[in-house]
Amino acid sequence: MDRLRTSLADVVGPSHVLVDPELTASYETDWTGRFTGRAAAVVRPGSPGEVAAVMALLHEAGRPVVPQGGNTGLVGGGVPLHGEVVVSLRRLAAIDEVDVAAGQVTVGAGATAAAVDDAAARVGLAFGVDLAARQSATVGGMVATNAGGLRMLRYGGMRAQTAGVEAVLADGRLVSHLGGLTKDNTGYDLAGLLAGSEGTLAVVTRVQLRLVPRLEHRTTGLLAFADPEAALEALIGLRRRLPGLLEAAELFLADGVRLVCDHLGIPPPFGRIDPVYLLVEAAGVSDPTEELAAAVIEVVGDRALDGAVDAEPTGRARLWRYREAHTEAINAAGVPVKLDVTLPAGELAAFLAEAPVTVERVAPGARCILFGHAGDGNVHVNVLGVAGGSGVSPDMTDARPVEDAVLRLAAGRGGSISSEHGIGAAKRPWLHLNRSPAEIEVFRAIKRALDPDGILNPHVLLPEEDARTGALG
Ligand code: MLT
Ligand code: ZN
Repeated sequence: MDRLRTSLADVVGPSHVLVDPELTASYETDWTGRFTGRAAAVVRPGSPGEVAAVMALLHEAGRPVVPQGGNTGLVGGGVPLHGEVVVSLRRLAAIDEVDVAAGQVTVGAGATAAAVDDAAARVGLAFGVDLAARQSATVGGMVATNAGGLRMLRYGGMRAQTAGVEAVLADGRLVSHLGGLTKDNTGYDLAGLLAGSEGTLAVVTRVQLRLVPRLEHRTTGLLAFADPEAALEALIGLRRRLPGLLEAAELFLADGVRLVCDHLGIPPPFGRIDPVYLLVEAAGVSDPTEELAAAVIEVVGDRALDGAVDAEPTGRARLWRYREAHTEAINAAGVPVKLDVTLPAGELAAFLAEAPVTVERVAPGARCILFGHAGDGNVHVNVLGVAGGSGVSPDMTDARPVEDAVLRLAAGRGGSISSEHGIGAAKRPWLHLNRSPAEIEVFRAIKRALDPDGILNPHVLLPEEDARTGALG
């Protein structure tokens, strides 16, 4: 490693090859604190050319690599659980001038979601993907995980925003297709392939993003319900009644709100804790408040126990924090097992009822908090009070029964075991619940074609036996 370290330092400069545990620590543990490892080194290239040179060196040395962005991933896909070298892309944060005519911008993989949105705002545009981790999550990581977030309902996820990509292959070759043409049928869609590849196929260095119109007029509504069925029926009505206006539809429950209120020291909505909440946001070129309020009266009516609609930024933020503070409130209460699943629309209410019962059966006394993006059928199942998980050290396997039961429950109802967080290290043993042997064989063939030596994130996404086919150095 010493000679390799010197060669890496020749490329990126000695201050960007970190081996001191104090300096590497923040790159070695994920945001939840559940996934932690030791990096052989952390390398911080400052340009796509440096990424290419770094990868060429690591490839020659046969060193496994974990590419890392803002380290906000939640499935252990961006931390060195097996002593890999971390290649941090955070220094690639440049944002080119926005191409107003095309409604696009090319950004470095290390640019954060918030920085991209700020740049877009300066010309009246917006970044179509928004998520609570916006200040830290980087575009490269968001492409690699095909991030979804809060506006998926209206604009789709990262794959839909990605007009072009530049990436470095495992052996250091740079591939780039940043033309950004709306119509461009010239072969395989590399950007589409890399979206959701979780760092296993290439290291994303630059991304050409599609931007969306910036809608300055927005109104947020928070509605309380007695049960999930009532909330979901109300959502169906609102979606039909407000086509093209609804931007977010988030669902959360009493337990989560209790946790948020305790954590932030704030009173519950409407002065009491209700069983189910639906938060909706409408956005348009003119003020959507009246339309949203009318829709709530017409299609929700007395299905709701209570409700509030607010168009003022502070009032909207006050409503949003009951939803957005879930993640930090849960983490403040302990290290959660996080399972991010999608259900078909017709199965969502049944899953919300069954998940806590299932968790209680396999982990009596554990706390199950459910929230998510109701408009996408996406439920975030967070379980507190369980020691470890399949991605952490082998002796901490208490979470396995919980993971197994919840993922099987979702898949059994026709759902996906990974809605937006990815498979990562956490869910690879269950990939077969959603993907057939033939599909996994195709995945493996693609992996071999792009990374024949298996050095790129070898312990992520594909089941274990596939990862072992690579020379791990
Ligand atoms: C969210 O929707 O808030 C994110 O996916 C984060 C989380 O699941 O905790
Ligand atoms: Zn989410």
